[in-house]
Amino acid sequence: MEKKFKRTLITTALPYANGPVHIGHLAGVYVPADIYARYLRLKGEDVVMVGGSDEHGVPITLRARKEGITPQEVVDRYHTIIKDSLEELGVSFDIYSRTTSKLHNETASEFFRHLYDKGEFIQQTALQPYDEKGGEFLADRYVVGTCPRCGNENAYGDQCEACGSSLNVTDLINPRSALTGEPVKMRETTHWYLPLDKWEEKLRSWILDGHKEWKSNVYGQCKSWLDAGLQPRAVSRDLSWGVPVPVEGAEGKVLYVWFDAPIGYISNTKELLPDSWETWWKDPETRIINFIGKDNIVFHCIVFPAMLMAYGDGFQLPDNVPANEFLNLEGDKISTSRNWAVWLHEYLKEFPGKQDVLRYVLTANAPETKDNDFTWADFQARNNNELVAILGNFVNRAVVLTHKYFGGTVPATTAFEPVDSAVWEDMQKIKGALTEALDTFHFREALKQAMEIARLGNRYLQETEPWKVAKTDMARTATILNTALQLCANIAIAFEPFLPFTCGRLVKMLGGGKLSWDMLGSSDIIPAGTGIAPAELLFEKIEDATVEAQVKRLQDTKKANEVAAWRPEPQAEDVDFDTFCRSDLRVGTVLECEKVPKADKLLRFLIDDGMEKRTIVSGIAKYYKPEELVGKQVCFIANLPPRKLKGIVSQGMILSAENSDGSIVLLAPSAPVAPGSKIG
Ligand code: MF3
Ligand code: ZN
Repeated sequence: MEKKFKRTLITTALPYANGPVHIGHLAGVYVPADIYARYLRLKGEDVVMVGGSDEHGVPITLRARKEGITPQEVVDRYHTIIKDSLEELGVSFDIYSRTTSKLHNETASEFFRHLYDKGEFIQQTALQPYDEKGGEFLADRYVVGTCPRCGNENAYGDQCEACGSSLNVTDLINPRSALTGEPVKMRETTHWYLPLDKWEEKLRSWILDGHKEWKSNVYGQCKSWLDAGLQPRAVSRDLSWGVPVPVEGAEGKVLYVWFDAPIGYISNTKELLPDSWETWWKDPETRIINFIGKDNIVFHCIVFPAMLMAYGDGFQLPDNVPANEFLNLEGDKISTSRNWAVWLHEYLKEFPGKQDVLRYVLTANAPETKDNDFTWADFQARNNNELVAILGNFVNRAVVLTHKYFGGTVPATTAFEPVDSAVWEDMQKIKGALTEALDTFHFREALKQAMEIARLGNRYLQETEPWKVAKTDMARTATILNTALQLCANIAIAFEPFLPFTCGRLVKMLGGGKLSWDMLGSSDIIPAGTGIAPAELLFEKIEDATVEAQVKRLQDTKKANEVAAWRPEPQAEDVDFDTFCRSDLRVGTVLECEKVPKADKLLRFLIDDGMEKRTIVSGIAKYYKPEELVGKQVCFIANLPPRKLKGIVSQGMILSAENSDGSIVLLAPSAPVAPGSKIG
């Protein structure tokens, strides 16, 4: 019993405006949402896609403090970058707004006030960390102290970044304010809570009975939350950045960012459609789809729906929440703070005109059912082996051959054969599978099906060989090329949701015209006699050097992160003075130095030690050229038992220090001394 809807409201999670968006955001949310919106529009459905920046919350205030600017300046900067880059990628928002807008403030404020007046909140007092010197309550992130698990002295009140444990403020040893450095005191504060327990039964039947069709990752997470039992959730915070709590006596309190942000979906719709927004939210014939990442599931499936139920007044709940898992980058979790990401605005600068390549790779690799990995090697391979070699190649052959044999005019079908009908039978099957995949949010599979059309086209040309047929039979050649061009037109439709830029160019190449999803599968989209433009390559090969440069940059980032995270080793246990004095440390002069054959790390030294001369083998070949060391003075341990290394007897050990990046430097006296001088 398929429900019939009149319109679809598509929402995309509002990205925090504390940084630009990266490929993880794109693969998880914006690309799939855009595919779906474009697909529905092609079907002629009534669609609105709303998005915007999430501009409140603690991370934004942290960033502002760190940079010495205001939170408003932070969000102004990133909102612009995010909005412009998503637009350039072709994400076809009907509106992309922001939660610092006046309209959003009013809408969120009114929403809270309405629940407050209806008695939907409970008021509770709890202990919160307080900074007496700064005179303010502290968010968990603003409290630092010693991690009880690993001893890191700079663990945050919610997490220790050294060992990865998640923490509570009360777990920290010697908690202090990150703002003033003062010890924190716990102080009572009052907040408003939404009693989720009150909505538990309704949520259970709405999701667990009513939405068994949801993706299993989403359904499963909801079930485990519901089975664990819901608790009241605070919807306000002691913070100066946010929508003020619109209640007397609530000075210094704002709405919790996760209370105001989803209301952003409503305010953005209102901003776009001031007169009809209510139809898009309250008419049961509207279908609401929330595109999000997996970390947002509880807010979209439990908390926001409870808010909407509590509000009443006809607000509709989402019909589906096709949340994705995470995309990793070259095997590691994407991280804004560690700069481990491919940033969209940078990609657009470095790969101009290649929006569709990124859209393609992110869809082909979308983390729909499990976390997935983006690698530059895969990016290159998919471009070269799929977009260039299959899709671009087929279109190019069809267009070039039409110019060669028919002067660039679409020829009429005159000599039809069974091989041609077989093509259209296959095409029908593809259309069925493609539509089914799109309808059920399986965009990877959908893209694979669309690609099948190009594969089909290549197979068809391979089988029919129009370049041979043309020598004897132009009627048959006309039919073959007509069929190939109609397949190109089918490609222009099927790929429009995925590769809109390419399809725009393809449609132009094929002589223009308006396409719709209904036409997909038909063999007469372009009328015979239509003039087509000269062939233009839709995709170009990406060279090794291009992706190698990207990989190199990531490796540099990793190195820089390791250096930044470097701490000296903890001090070793005490040794008594006499024991230490038994080590015979000396200075010597390098007489000879050379690489040890077949050992790329080792250098062989001959040292003037003021006595007999001695040979020492040392593992520093990566950091020094042997000829540079001859004549230099080094420090060494003289009284180690001799050791054989690669067949050479080493009589001691040269002293060096290991730097934070793992490189090695030799120790030397600050002025020349007599060879054999003792160190102590
Ligand atoms: N800013 C949140 C995040 O990036 C998402 C907010 S989605 C909304 O995780 F529903 F709250 F808008
Ligand atoms: Zn720790």
